[in-house]
Amino acid sequence: MSPSRTTVSEELFARARAVTPGGVNSPVRAFNAVGGTPRFIRSASGAWLTDVDGNDYVDLICSWGPMLLGHAHPEVQAAVQAAVARGTSYGTPTQPEVELAEEIERRTPAERVRFVSSGTEATMSAIRLARGFTGRDVVVKFAGCYHGHVDSLLASAGSGLATFAVPGTPGVPVSSTELTLVLPYNDRAAVEKVFAEHGDRIACLITEAAPGNMGVVPPEPGFNAFLAETCRTHGALFVSDEVMTGFRASAQGYWGIDGKAEGWAPDLMTFGKVMGGGFPAAAFGGRADVMSRLSPEGPVYQAGTLSGNPVATTAGLATLRLATDEVYDHLTRVSETLKAGVVEAFTAAGLPHVVQSAGTMFSVFLTDPSLGAVRDFDDASRTDSAAYAALFHAMLEAGVYLPPSAYEAWFVSAAHDDRAVQTVLDALPAAARAAAAVQEEQ
Ligand SMILES: Cc1ncc(COP(=O)(O)O)c(C=O)c1O
Repeated sequence: MSPSRTTVSEELFARARAVTPGGVNSPVRAFNAVGGTPRFIRSASGAWLTDVDGNDYVDLICSWGPMLLGHAHPEVQAAVQAAVARGTSYGTPTQPEVELAEEIERRTPAERVRFVSSGTEATMSAIRLARGFTGRDVVVKFAGCYHGHVDSLLASAGSGLATFAVPGTPGVPVSSTELTLVLPYNDRAAVEKVFAEHGDRIACLITEAAPGNMGVVPPEPGFNAFLAETCRTHGALFVSDEVMTGFRASAQGYWGIDGKAEGWAPDLMTFGKVMGGGFPAAAFGGRADVMSRLSPEGPVYQAGTLSGNPVATTAGLATLRLATDEVYDHLTRVSETLKAGVVEAFTAAGLPHVVQSAGTMFSVFLTDPSLGAVRDFDDASRTDSAAYAALFHAMLEAGVYLPPSAYEAWFVSAAHDDRAVQTVLDALPAAARAAAAVQEEQ
């Protein structure tokens, strides 16, 4: 193909921009952070994406987490096709939603779950429930943790640690964030300070079980236990957002790594991504006494036309049943191999880097390792986005679809076999040199 010829992706992107803001239905897909035209994907199988121009890519996005088993897994597909043949939505209770709830409760500390259609809905509903249960209204969150586009959580820190937040985007009224406190991640002193000052008004603290939305920034040892204990001391609820980590970081989510052995459990948890098997399904759940405050058992209202949709819950159930220990062992091996490949290639290219992981999730920061681990959003913000853009495009040219943003986890699946992994490893050295060259020019 001559470089000047317009590709089908380019044609579609031009049409998309004429009908949809930015040409995409979720901003990070647009390549704004790395430049260029997003590839329009026609089909996917296993670890591979095929775009509308016929190019194949090893997929390191995996739909931003959900595709734990890889694309078009035959058993998930068969279950979904059978479900579709039975009709796609009834607005009544169904068997798959009971079985998926049982499977989630078997794996996690959640004693009751309620299904919704997106992670945003899950965190929004968990916060309403926490407020309804405690009769309080202040919410604590961490800078760099993303919990979906809930108004009160699209908040930036106020001018001091214990001051209330300001809207993080136009369109969010000040009144929506004036009950939100935003703290630096991994900072126990900051948590102690706001609970000392506002403890009797705090309904809940919400945190990603292990943040993956500022790149992967694992909690320091004991941090989640400390948060759970602090909440308990002050009569607030501890809400652990496992939308990204749930059934991906380990078979039981990040709680399975961090909480199980230490014997603590969140009061509420949120789930999404993997548990929907590639369909729009999510959930929130937790302590039975808290969940029983939810309508119709209790007074806190929450509802959804497509919540617990039979096709989506069938896909999620098939996925979780296939997500065995062997799958997580495989994900660990693939992640470790890719991380080692990154370190080797970046070191050889003289490209400063920090690679961090949380269970089977990992990400790459193009930042000075002599400054130590990336512990919070300020540290993560040091990553070199221009160098990442060069890395991204060199990898894309070589047939590897990385996340088009320097602040995202790299996701792998059970279908990432030796050929897929080798394709990534082969692409890394030249891409690392391209990124290093950009750094030299700066
Ligand atoms: C930790 C976390 N919580 C919540 C959400 C929001 O989920 P959704 O995009 O399904 O609304 C996300 C999405 O990336 C997430 O990573």
